[in-house]
Amino acid sequence: MIIKTQTLKKAFGCTIISALLLALFFINALGRFEYMAQDRLYRDFGLIHPDIFVFGIDEETLIEFGPLQFWSRERMAGAIDILNSDPDGWKPAVIAVDILYSGLSGITDADEGLVRAAAEGGNVVFGAVASIDYRGEVRTFEKPFPALESVSGYGMLNTIIDPDGVVRRAGAGMEIFGNTEPTFAEAIYKMYTGQDVVIPPGVRNPKRIVFTGKPGDYFGAVGLGTSFKNIFAEDFDPGFYAGAIILIGPYAYGLMDSYFTAADQRQPMHGVEIHANIVQMLLDENFKGYAPDWVNRALLVLILAVFGALFMRVDMRISFAALMLFAVGYVFLNRWLFQSGWIITLIYPVIFAVALFVFSLVYRYITDKIAHITAIAEINEKHFAETKELFNSFVKVMTAAIDERTPYNANHSIKVAGYTGQFIRYLREKYELGSPYHMDENREQQLVMAAYLHDVGKIVTPLEVMDKASRLGSRLPAVMDKFAIKKMFDRVQFLSGKISETEYNAGVENINDTLAFVERVNTAGFLPDEDIERVKALKQITYIDDSDNTVSVFDDSDIVSLSTRKGTLTDAERGIMEEHANVTERLLGNMKFPGELEHVPAWAKSHHEFIDGTGYPHKIAAEQVSIEVRILTMMDIYDALTARDRPYKRAMPHDGAVKILRAMVDEGKLDGELVRLFIESEIGA
Ligand SMILES: [Fe+2]
Ligand SMILES: [Fe+2]
Repeated sequence: MIIKTQTLKKAFGCTIISALLLALFFINALGRFEYMAQDRLYRDFGLIHPDIFVFGIDEETLIEFGPLQFWSRERMAGAIDILNSDPDGWKPAVIAVDILYSGLSGITDADEGLVRAAAEGGNVVFGAVASIDYRGEVRTFEKPFPALESVSGYGMLNTIIDPDGVVRRAGAGMEIFGNTEPTFAEAIYKMYTGQDVVIPPGVRNPKRIVFTGKPGDYFGAVGLGTSFKNIFAEDFDPGFYAGAIILIGPYAYGLMDSYFTAADQRQPMHGVEIHANIVQMLLDENFKGYAPDWVNRALLVLILAVFGALFMRVDMRISFAALMLFAVGYVFLNRWLFQSGWIITLIYPVIFAVALFVFSLVYRYITDKIAHITAIAEINEKHFAETKELFNSFVKVMTAAIDERTPYNANHSIKVAGYTGQFIRYLREKYELGSPYHMDENREQQLVMAAYLHDVGKIVTPLEVMDKASRLGSRLPAVMDKFAIKKMFDRVQFLSGKISETEYNAGVENINDTLAFVERVNTAGFLPDEDIERVKALKQITYIDDSDNTVSVFDDSDIVSLSTRKGTLTDAERGIMEEHANVTERLLGNMKFPGELEHVPAWAKSHHEFIDGTGYPHKIAAEQVSIEVRILTMMDIYDALTARDRPYKRAMPHDGAVKILRAMVDEGKLDGELVRLFIESEIGA
């Protein structure tokens, strides 16, 4: 089940990543890098065509003939004439002039001279320019002035500049104002071959320009193209260029007709040389078409699906190997496709695969970490639960040990804890959160624990005090013995004639009467004044022993014990008994209670405090006696009353105990509202 959830999560993550990646592709966010990678991979320099020459209007030409815009058209006419002037009639196949001569110059002779030269040569192509708006619509189209157009070819000089400012694509002839207008290169091709360019089906326009020559390759030493001014040199041999394609065009950076190209992005290429490359591409029929968008999209979706599934299932090392294999293989595939004339997206598939791999890596790392943390948390939680359990059981064992010291009310602490828990839950049901009577589970836990531990101090209370069932307690047999001795010596007195028989009989009767009295007083709950008076008189009961000493039957402590007005404990013994609250305080004060149980010692030690300040050990007053302590005190008294905690004392019924609790409220010792709520709760009833 866990594995299934993880798979689902991972699949979900893959889908999100895939969607993001596809979005990247659709906005072409990495277009710049795609261009860079393609420019690097698709570089295909080769031997430049032996018939293509660039004659550049370069710096030297401009120095010689002045700025281009001031040239008379006779200059170009002269150049065409010279190129076509071989006496044997060997002339270039094409003279392509990368200049737009739209409209007349105003110098009729010059215009007519150019028309004449073109007409005589019959091999001249001029430039035309279409201005195309951002929607791809042609706004204007300028071509050679009519007389010139009628004697020459022409083609569009427009270049396509990619968003990164680089020229790497070439368009094809297009419909403009009802006519099919060729590109400059196509016009040259047609002039050269006598045929229209045939682009194979499947090669989309604009296609990629295959740059056979780098900047300068068609000019100067390599191709034996040359500076335009050299045409006018004495030793210029036009016959050398027979059958060739001569491209004449601006070749100085100042003429603003140079561009960065896919061939070289550090050195700009002059426009005329770009046209030379395109002409060679047409002649070599070396077409590289960009694949339609749907091909790239389908490819990317396929890659996302395959690698998403692969990386999700297999081991990291296999995934990495697959990724590397794919990356390298894909680059080779692209190169092979390029050779075959196809261009598909180069970097997106690789980036997609890498991104999915990184995602699966991160995903695995995070899930491993989470699993690790979860495992540690589980162990900690188990330890914590065990420690808590240990502590709780320890508390219960302590409680049982205290309760078992005395046979009377052996379950006192356990019962007080039970009542306390029930009562807090009753209050929580009855009162909303925010009321002082609404105590949360943590408070309940703390108070119940305080109830378990409240009498822990009794562990050091002497059993003879704690279990003392009568006023004389363990001294009763000694008193009885002394009565027996008195009886014996009284009889010796009588037999030796020291007292009369009447006196002796009266004495025996008195002893029996006194014994009955002592036995009654010893266990009586409460002694009225006359009983206390008679107890005090017991001191006078004596006998005369065999050494003629007068011996008292009761010593002072017997009298003190017997004259206790209420209960079985003397003041001194009561003090020892009450000491248990102090001991509870000391013992619990030495224990380290964690934060969630921090109130346990304070509540436990105060279970004999009354709100009127008459309790013990600290006699704290109402405002310092917390609700929790008030509850604990009430429960302690209730259980003491309803339990049969002395052999001679019957257990009090619930109603009787409730009556006493109410009386203690009236005395100001207990919290009236809490007692009312306790009675209402019917706990213990
Ligand atoms: Fe107590
Ligand atoms: Fe108690």
